[in-house]
Amino acid sequence: MPTLEDLRAEVEKLRTDLEERLDSVEDEASLDALRATFLGRKGRISQLFKKLGTLDPSERSEAGQLLNGLKKAANEAVARAKSESRSARLAERLDVERIDMSLPGAYRPLGHVHPLTRVQQEIETIFLRMGFSVATGPEIETEYHNFDALNIPVEHPARADWDTFYIDESTLLRPHTSPVQIRVMEQTEPPVRIICPGRCYRRDTQDATHSPVFHQVELLWVEEGLSLAHLKYVLELFTHEFFGEGYEMLFSGDYFPFTEPSVQVHIKAPGAAHWLEIMGAGMVDPAVLEAVGYDPETYTGFAFGLGIERMAMLKYGIDDIRVFLTNDLRFIRQF
Ligand code: PHE
Repeated sequence: MPTLEDLRAEVEKLRTDLEERLDSVEDEASLDALRATFLGRKGRISQLFKKLGTLDPSERSEAGQLLNGLKKAANEAVARAKSESRSARLAERLDVERIDMSLPGAYRPLGHVHPLTRVQQEIETIFLRMGFSVATGPEIETEYHNFDALNIPVEHPARADWDTFYIDESTLLRPHTSPVQIRVMEQTEPPVRIICPGRCYRRDTQDATHSPVFHQVELLWVEEGLSLAHLKYVLELFTHEFFGEGYEMLFSGDYFPFTEPSVQVHIKAPGAAHWLEIMGAGMVDPAVLEAVGYDPETYTGFAFGLGIERMAMLKYGIDDIRVFLTNDLRFIRQF
């Protein structure tokens, strides 16, 4: 019959065994196996507990305490080994995945709006402050909105002034933003006070001053009692805001089928020798008002169309329209 002393010896042996094996354990899987061997339901410590019943009853209480102490100590030792192996692995990972916060970051260039967009927004801002609102229309237009309603009937020689890309007999890529005037007036009653920025297309061969794709801003103000003097005042305000103080402005006679009279607007920088054309403009032709159902006896109005590229070129001293499209960052970054 085993005695308490025998049990003590076994407990000591088990303790040293466990310590030795814990020392040499290498990964978590073998640690789990070790735990099963010692602390599992059929493990070595359970086996010792089974022996309790074979001891002399006077020794059982002390033996029980001894075994409970063993079990507790074994559990703690395994848990400690486990957390040590975890922190060792964590330390290893931190070592490998180290981030050097002192290294310079990856450079991600920040973009900005294209110079043409910027000039368009500047123009919009000026007219928005004067009380105009921004309207847009389609780039693929009907011949009716682009020509007929603007007092340029079929066979009218003026159609040739707009070198138009046709898509089919009655559809085209708009060569100017004037059709937006028609679309807005068709939809609204006067007064109308709008600007219409947008892309236009013409069958032009590309050179320093021509591009088959370009941009315009159209302006239209229709109300009772408007005259050429109002147009002149609005343009003077615009010129001063956009180009700066001290610019002179000049109207010369021109011809557009949709304005009567029609003018060409020129500006001259302070001290400059030459006048520069900036836009075509004029009083809206009564035929255009009639086409949209406005009474030309009651309403008058004026309109202009300017080229955004041309405005940008004049303002920034750019001498080749192609730079707006070639995407050369050395140019674009200057804005
Ligand atoms: N639509 C004309 C063009 O593109 C410009 C213009 C607009 C002229 C409005 C007068 C009034 O040439």
